[in-house]
Amino acid sequence: MGVVRNLRQVDADAAGVDIAFRADVHAGLAQRQKAIPARWFYDTIGSALFEDITALPEYYPTRSETDLLTRHAADIAAATGPARAVVELGSGSSTKTPLLLNAIDPSAYVPVDISGDFLRGSAEALAARFPGLPIYPVEADFTQRVTMPDEIADLPKLGFFPGSTIGNMVARTAIDLLRNWRCALGEASLLLIGIDRIKDVATLELAYDDPAGVTAAFNLNLLERINRELGGDIPVANFSHRAIWDDVHARIEMHLVAACDMEFTIDGRLYAMAKGETIHSENSHKYGARDANLLLRASGWTPVATWDDADPAFALILAEATAFRSAP
Ligand code: AVJ
Repeated sequence: MGVVRNLRQVDADAAGVDIAFRADVHAGLAQRQKAIPARWFYDTIGSALFEDITALPEYYPTRSETDLLTRHAADIAAATGPARAVVELGSGSSTKTPLLLNAIDPSAYVPVDISGDFLRGSAEALAARFPGLPIYPVEADFTQRVTMPDEIADLPKLGFFPGSTIGNMVARTAIDLLRNWRCALGEASLLLIGIDRIKDVATLELAYDDPAGVTAAFNLNLLERINRELGGDIPVANFSHRAIWDDVHARIEMHLVAACDMEFTIDGRLYAMAKGETIHSENSHKYGARDANLLLRASGWTPVATWDDADPAFALILAEATAFRSAP
């Protein structure tokens, strides 16, 4: 039986609502272009809807990445070596994790996720599947500074950041995060990161606006969550889902579009929206080969291998922590 211990690093109020969620919603709705960070999609319902998205025929990233992990498992294992502590950022339901753990024979597994329920469920499932592998779940927002469990202090780390989650961040924030993790994982660490590639607009837009409406439900659940947790009275039926490619920023943007003029309250605070106005709810940045390498190098990670032969295109990149004193 694997060891499962919990470390909680999320601040909640008396009602159990994440303090940062409340602050982000009010700050985001006060902006001229209303915007709420995409990480708040993932309450229990949102996490389940995301799992449904990954099964959609139009949503290729999960299939492409799983395909790469399966086909290149031996190469990945050869490049990382055994006996590392695998630290997974935003582990969610950890569906891709067994592929990696099977391949590389690690000494510990540390899933880091903001959704405590999902984290505990998947940690227990993995413990049953990998008896003898110590598992140390950390319930935390991986975009903040996260303390690593003492138990893995002496192990070389392999950061695992699948799913192109890095795509949710604008370049500056992505670099801040990757630099922080370069620091948290330490000198001898490696990073295996999944990055979605730039491709034709039709494929991209369909992946984020599926005919079955699952992505729309995922987007609209953000408003339902605000109503549930923050005492909001947002008329959710008056919003629609929009996903569009922005070529300048090389990203899919998701918005919640107001169908009419409206007013609503959250925590007793009044907000007004005009017909056609939007709440920007997600960015999903895509990267060409050199774009991705630059992002990593700017963050203290040196790319050492890329596997990106999946169709539709998606990349798994292995990078090593750049030595602090390296050649010019
Ligand atoms: C979880 C960040 C990878 O950007 O593709 C899927 C989330 N949003 N459909 C992505 C998402 C809409 C997703 N990531």
